[in-house]
Amino acid sequence: MTKRVGIFVSGGGSNMRALVDDMDASHPATPVVIVSNNADAGGIAWAKEAGLATVVVDHRPFGQDRAGFEAAISDALDPFDLDLICLAGFMRVLTAGFVTPWRGRMLNIHPSLLPKYRGLHTHARALEAGDTEHGCTVHLVTPELDDGPILGQARVPIRAGDTPDDLAARVLQQEHILYPSVLRRFASDDLTPLML
Ligand code: GRF
Repeated sequence: MTKRVGIFVSGGGSNMRALVDDMDASHPATPVVIVSNNADAGGIAWAKEAGLATVVVDHRPFGQDRAGFEAAISDALDPFDLDLICLAGFMRVLTAGFVTPWRGRMLNIHPSLLPKYRGLHTHARALEAGDTEHGCTVHLVTPELDDGPILGQARVPIRAGDTPDDLAARVLQQEHILYPSVLRRFASDDLTPLML
């Protein structure tokens, strides 16, 4: 049966677009809602244009009340009867209260070769470390940040003179290949890591 997917974005949503574009009739999953904490996210505008349902829950009125923010998202998601969640550039940390019920059913893409460089500024950190390669990882989400079983990785070379932006652009191209490929396999119950 086709898996019902919710995709969480905070920004431009290029990974979301890559996922949605890949979910054609042959795909084991279908996008049913795009979720954001940011009403102005480019990804939300694109989703509306594409005729997809959207849910926006602004995190700011909740302040430090992460549980309240997450409860509002859960309530809004209830009617969509989701099987899977794909985090795609969703820039809010989700607590164990939200993550645990979705364990094994929530994926994230992170712009580094995990376990290297959890958290932010991954491209600058790879350059500062003098690494010769970098990349991106799709993993299952667990309560620990940017942790959880790895479902796939793609590698890119680091070239002399690269800036963090150069590297980010090179990695992002691979993200757009890796994430849809991993989701196809995962939604077909194939958890074998995909190493590109
Ligand atoms: C991607 O690099 C993703 O890995 C990171 O944030 C960026 C989001 O880009 N977490 P986009 O919104 O998918 O274009």
